[in-house]
Amino acid sequence: MKKVTVSAPSKLHLSGEHAVVYGKPVILVATSKRLYVTLEKQNAKCKTQNEIGKIKNELHYLAKIVKLFEKKYETAIDNNVNLTVHSDIPIGVGMGSSAALAVATIGALSQWIGREWNPLEINELAFEAEKIQHHNPSGGDNTIATYGGLLWYRKELDFLKTFWLLPFKIPRDFSSFMLINTGRLESTGELVQIVGEKVKKSTSSIMRIMSDIEVTTKQIAQYIHDENEPEFLGALKENQKYLEELGIVSTVTRKLIREIESVGGVAKVTGAGGIKGGSGVIIAVHKNPNKLIQIAQAYNFPSFQVQLGGEGLRREQVVI
Ligand code: MEV
Repeated sequence: MKKVTVSAPSKLHLSGEHAVVYGKPVILVATSKRLYVTLEKQNAKCKTQNEIGKIKNELHYLAKIVKLFEKKYETAIDNNVNLTVHSDIPIGVGMGSSAALAVATIGALSQWIGREWNPLEINELAFEAEKIQHHNPSGGDNTIATYGGLLWYRKELDFLKTFWLLPFKIPRDFSSFMLINTGRLESTGELVQIVGEKVKKSTSSIMRIMSDIEVTTKQIAQYIHDENEPEFLGALKENQKYLEELGIVSTVTRKLIREIESVGGVAKVTGAGGIKGGSGVIIAVHKNPNKLIQIAQAYNFPSFQVQLGGEGLRREQVVI
């Protein structure tokens, strides 16, 4: 029976979030947490809630992605095709869940209608989807979801985006990352817009911060390349300082990060941040991860680990 499953990974920003919207470079790493989209013919006897016909009548992101795909390829997916999403990516907290959804759904639909496997084309359409959802995305999130690994990305112009898959990994002997989910109340689009207002009001001081972030992003690439962990951690800390200056880190997240620093650790927001509640997932590093687990528990924040450098967009099963 015809069946397609395509998956895409989540991501972490090591440095360059927000600045990337203004043409600065960003370093992203894919993680082992993934999202899976499956398409299969509906069994007439056992109708589910996931029929494409029903999904298209909804207002959520998935519906917009399906309609964008149909418009782009002047096609109509049968209403009775079943679309199921399985994901272990925490939603809306900076790990790229929406980009993974766009990339995996477009990948799965393109296989369903028999198009050639073309990650470049899938990534471009996912960027269009991300524009609908987040208004002014850089395109970094969909690009890491497509290509995975450790990625250097820069958007020069809407039609001119450059990226390098760095031919090295975060060294194995670097301390592992602990991820702490502080939650978030604002959407990525809202946070990007808040920074946009600041840029309009005080262009030179905010653009100075963006330039400082660019320096840090380059240092981080260099220190990973040189396998220099102390300098790498110093640059992560520096990046966090600039994100705080940008005003996208909430009071509780700043308190948590200061506490981690006070016991000799380093932590940074990854992704768009968050102002009113938490600031999404933070990357935390300490020689003794138990210390980080204890601090997270004291705040009632879940903590977890992931493997870094995961594979990008992947065809899990294609039976046509
Ligand atoms: C969001 O994951 C990262 C931001 O830099 C926005 C973007 O790159 O589109 C805040």
